[in-house]
Amino acid sequence: MPLQENGLVINHQQVAQDMYIMEFMAPAVARECQPGQFLHVRPGNTNDPLLRRPLSIYDADQEKGSISLLYRVVGAGTSLMTGIRENDYIDIVGPLGRGFTLPAPSKTALLVGGGVGIAPLVYLGRALIQRGCQVTAMMGAANENQLVAGDRLLEIGVPFLPVTMDGSRGYPGMVTDLLVPPVYPEEIVIYTCGPEPMMAKVAEYAQRYDIWGEVSLEEHMACGVGACLGCARRLKANDEAYVKVCKDGPVFNIMDVEF
Ligand SMILES: Cc1cc2nc3c(=O)[nH]c(=O)nc-3n(C[C@H](O)[C@H](O)[C@H](O)COP(=O)(O)OP(=O)(O)OC[C@H]3O[C@@H](n4cnc5c(N)ncnc54)[C@H](O)[C@@H]3O)c2cc1C
Ligand code: FES
Repeated sequence: MPLQENGLVINHQQVAQDMYIMEFMAPAVARECQPGQFLHVRPGNTNDPLLRRPLSIYDADQEKGSISLLYRVVGAGTSLMTGIRENDYIDIVGPLGRGFTLPAPSKTALLVGGGVGIAPLVYLGRALIQRGCQVTAMMGAANENQLVAGDRLLEIGVPFLPVTMDGSRGYPGMVTDLLVPPVYPEEIVIYTCGPEPMMAKVAEYAQRYDIWGEVSLEEHMACGVGACLGCARRLKANDEAYVKVCKDGPVFNIMDVEF
């Protein structure tokens, strides 16, 4: 059941040219958060922009009662958020949507994130480690400065392979270049979030080797709770029915989505 809460901001840092991490106290929502779910955030105190903005749960500490968001500034709402200071309040509704499915502890999980798409995979990484899974993250970004989640992944205990398009850190190229044929595909599960062409390649890989996996999709959203059809999408071109990404997702089985 989603809740509305005014979170007390305890940390808000710029971590790259256009990226920020914000941590706030919101114990009631934090208690309910599952990896892959998102919050609907009111970016400011005015009615412009009118609509809330969906942001993934980047991390949550249920004991402390805090939630972190990792966001990229792309427009009016996220620009407004950059002006929020420590000790200000942020109006959130959540947790919303269907999150990731956790596999058996014996599985090895690959997390494939592109750009700010790494956000939901970090909290997922935490849950997988707590469950006893082996986890490796592959994190792609334009350049070294955009690889913002590395420290958090290491703190959680998730080793990560950095990939940069300009070769400034890690493997030079696309994150999907690291997807080599698996020796034991049945022991692997794969989770991905990022630009659709990247997720398409991950889905192709999962299909070729019959690897179970999930994707987290992004759509424009209005209500965020399944009431307006603003986020409706066909998962496959020939599907008759539409899904509501906010309520039926944002996480879907990788085999169910055609990019
Ligand atoms: C479930 C979900 C989780 C998300 N998690 C994160 C996250 O953790 N971190 C993060 O930085 N962003 C995330 N996003 C994207 C984020 O919601 C948008 O970037 C944000 O709403 C833009 O608001 P704005 O007012 O700054 O930009 P606007 O002025 O509304 O738009 C600026 C540009 O961004 C595009 N845009 C706006 N909303 C979306 C959207 N939902 N999907 C794709 N393109 C969009 C617009 O077409 C436009 O080109 C998520 C989106 C969804 C649906
Ligand atoms: S945003 Fe309204 S139904 Fe999904």
